[in-house]
Amino acid sequence: MKALHERAQTVLNNNFKEGFSIPCAKLYPFQWFWDSGLIAIGFAHFDMQKAEQEIETLLDAQWENGFIPHIIFHTDTDTYFPGPDFHRSDLHPQSSKKYKSTGMTQPPVTGFVLEEMYRISKDKVATLKYIETVIDKVYDNHNYFFTKRDPQNEGLVYIYHNWESGTDNSPIWDDIWDTMDPPEYTFERRDTTHVDAAERPSKREYDHYLYIIDIAKEHNYSDEKIAELSPFLVQDPLFNAILIKSNQSLINLYELLGDYSKVEQLKQWQNKSVKAFNDKLFDEELGAYIHYDLRNEKPLRYLSSSSFAPLYANIPSKERADSMVKVMMEKFGGDQQYLCASFDPTSERFNPKKYWRGPVWINLNWMLFKGLKQYGFSEIAERVKQDTIEIIEKNGFYEYFDSRKEMHKDGTAGYGGNDFSWSAALLVDLLND
Ligand code: DGY
Repeated sequence: MKALHERAQTVLNNNFKEGFSIPCAKLYPFQWFWDSGLIAIGFAHFDMQKAEQEIETLLDAQWENGFIPHIIFHTDTDTYFPGPDFHRSDLHPQSSKKYKSTGMTQPPVTGFVLEEMYRISKDKVATLKYIETVIDKVYDNHNYFFTKRDPQNEGLVYIYHNWESGTDNSPIWDDIWDTMDPPEYTFERRDTTHVDAAERPSKREYDHYLYIIDIAKEHNYSDEKIAELSPFLVQDPLFNAILIKSNQSLINLYELLGDYSKVEQLKQWQNKSVKAFNDKLFDEELGAYIHYDLRNEKPLRYLSSSSFAPLYANIPSKERADSMVKVMMEKFGGDQQYLCASFDPTSERFNPKKYWRGPVWINLNWMLFKGLKQYGFSEIAERVKQDTIEIIEKNGFYEYFDSRKEMHKDGTAGYGGNDFSWSAALLVDLLND
């Protein structure tokens, strides 16, 4: 059998199309924002040119207001729903004239991805030169978030759709679905023709997803109107932690470039965000970070892998980090579990087979690994790394994996899409760490 890293490279090369990567064949046939960023980290290890192209193409689809969409529809295909005709990005006056896209975004990984590319690069001078050509666009993206997505000027940005979170059908959103009663849509799902329906969201969940988009479309994707009217308006700890991490990377990279023109502004955003994050999103009783429902003004008090992601962005104090790791090991880290389930395994909403309702995801594991190491939890970081390698070795490069060890006996505990790009990309990075 070929070595794991070689197989990972093959997955990445096969999923690379004209200047960008698809997350995987059939299920996700376009370019996705956070996938693209994480994929570039993998390519940086063996094909820097592809890594650079990946980011360039992503930024090429940026809107005039700095916004970067969550899906860029490079090709016409009807194997995905909802496609460009449903999303209608053209409704927004500043949307890209070149690409059709969605009118929602995804966790802004680009800043930290550029810093990772620099870290990995064997030709730092060339990579820094490349970074110089794209970094202002990433700054514009942060400017969009801090000025358009923070209606109360708190230092925390909102997401208005579960697909913006990246953790698409997390049980946390159930609380929001309880406040809504969308119409029943008639549409043809495509995802369940590619993947077992037991691993994907329900029809009723999709009604909610579509309804939120319809409300945004009625107002031509105006940020102000969305903040005022969207039934889904959430401050998400994973999303905000990623923004903070990327913001720090922009500060570091601008300083490396010797360009200080934007550093003051970035630092202002950073200080305010980190403070607000710690003041508002830490739940003392649960011992970790949680989501906040801005529409209904209430905390969503659940533990998920997102609760621990702030470690990656250096947000918690050492004392808080200790408490987080204790909670993580108690609830998610038992001997029968692989780290790290995407949702609290002790909750009745936990489902270890279904998309974001419990399975292990490689991107979250990668962030946890880095975060744990940063805080000096070397042994637990090593366990996250070894668990990640083991589940891929046993099952293949799936999109997500059962968190229960007993399910991994015959190599069928990988779910969702197969030959999934970021699982391959981040494995390459872990193997090189
Ligand atoms: C999907 O189609 O499930 C995607 O994850 C949306 O981003």
